[in-house]
Amino acid sequence: MMAQQNEQANRGLEKIAWVRAHMPILEEIRARFTREAPFHGKTLSLVLHVEAKTAALALALKAGGGDVHLAASNPLTTDDEVVAALRLEGVETFARKGESVEDYQKGIEAMLAADPDIIIDDGADLVAAAVRKGLKVLGSTEETTTGVVRLRAMERDGKLPWPAIDVNDATMKHLFDNRYGTGQSTLDGIFSATNLTIAGKTAVVAGYGWCGKGVASRLRGLGADVIVTEVDPARAVEARLEGYRVRRMIDAAKEADLIVTVTGCADVVTRAHFEVMKDGCLLANSGHFDVEISKKDLNALSVRHRKARPMVEEFVFKDGRKVYLLAEGRLVNLSAGQGHPAEIMDMSFALQALSAEHILRSGKKLKPGVHPVPQELDDRVARAALNACGAQVDVLTEAQKRYLNSWQEGT
Ligand code: NAI
Repeated sequence: MMAQQNEQANRGLEKIAWVRAHMPILEEIRARFTREAPFHGKTLSLVLHVEAKTAALALALKAGGGDVHLAASNPLTTDDEVVAALRLEGVETFARKGESVEDYQKGIEAMLAADPDIIIDDGADLVAAAVRKGLKVLGSTEETTTGVVRLRAMERDGKLPWPAIDVNDATMKHLFDNRYGTGQSTLDGIFSATNLTIAGKTAVVAGYGWCGKGVASRLRGLGADVIVTEVDPARAVEARLEGYRVRRMIDAAKEADLIVTVTGCADVVTRAHFEVMKDGCLLANSGHFDVEISKKDLNALSVRHRKARPMVEEFVFKDGRKVYLLAEGRLVNLSAGQGHPAEIMDMSFALQALSAEHILRSGKKLKPGVHPVPQELDDRVARAALNACGAQVDVLTEAQKRYLNSWQEGT
């Protein structure tokens, strides 16, 4: 048993070593944290997808002197080998792949019981629970769009008692993580789940936000005929001018071989759409919650249901048509695939690490409410990312600066 556990932990350590070798920005921060110990004496509770890139963040915070606790932000996205490795490294980790809703809640409870000074959240479940419990927290950071939407609602209702840093909307996060990260890893999840081709398929992307743009462009790159559905007219025009067909879901569903939802909204694909869908349609979601494709309607309409492959459920309707739901309608990129590439999470988690440090260093200066990542930190990550990808930028000459300033000053 012990030997088996060690073997599992060793495989986890290998995975962490691989991603760390591709996360130079976070590694540089880790080296500085090791020297300066900014989190000494502080407890950090993290609710994130428990996999190798997250482990790199947790270990960087620990290197900075923090007492780090980690639980899953999604029951399907945990890598058990990474969990074993993290436990070996002294990070209290509460997660198991495929855990029940009750175990998920226990993970959140464990994060609260640690009495954190800082929360790092993905989807705002931990923040919501900590507020309900009346915890006194110095501040929190939020990783994803849906979490920020929830935080803003709490702020509006006067229910956000501490500063929360909106990491999602930092330029160096959403521009790359949501677009290129979700774009590539959603396809990775679909490939792993189905082992089918994309070329020649009609693929529908619901939502042309940051994530949707990435998913649509990757699908097109692989030879799919892409249709976009939207509710925002400007984004719909943007998709059209990018060359995609733009339709209502009720029309798009009739043509689709594959539908990917990535809206952050609920009930995007429901009974009316299942009723007109082609036989064999694949259904995947990359939005934060498993509410975009209605599983209630799928179950109600189907006469039979079975597991077709490890991450694919087949639903058979009364008229014999079949549709396939990937990864239980949960984030397909992390549930069936390996999540965002390491180089992308390097930028996102560098921002997380710097934002957590910013909360500590700012103390009471940072008032309760949702705050952007300071521009200086965003710029710092941008410069490091530029370095890491071997690109260069020109520098404004003094004369050019004077020219630009003259316009700003209206002269
Ligand atoms: P966004 O706000 O940039 O885009 C969402 C788009 O969906 C908007 O253009 C909106 O008009 C559209 N939309 C909303 N309801 C719709 C509906 N019923 N039908 C069609 N379109 C609709 O948000 P972003 O950053 O693209 O994030 C989308 C979701 O993906 C969120 O839940 C976010 O938390 C999640 N996310 C997932 C990631 C992953 O790893 N899979 C990574 C980052 C974000």
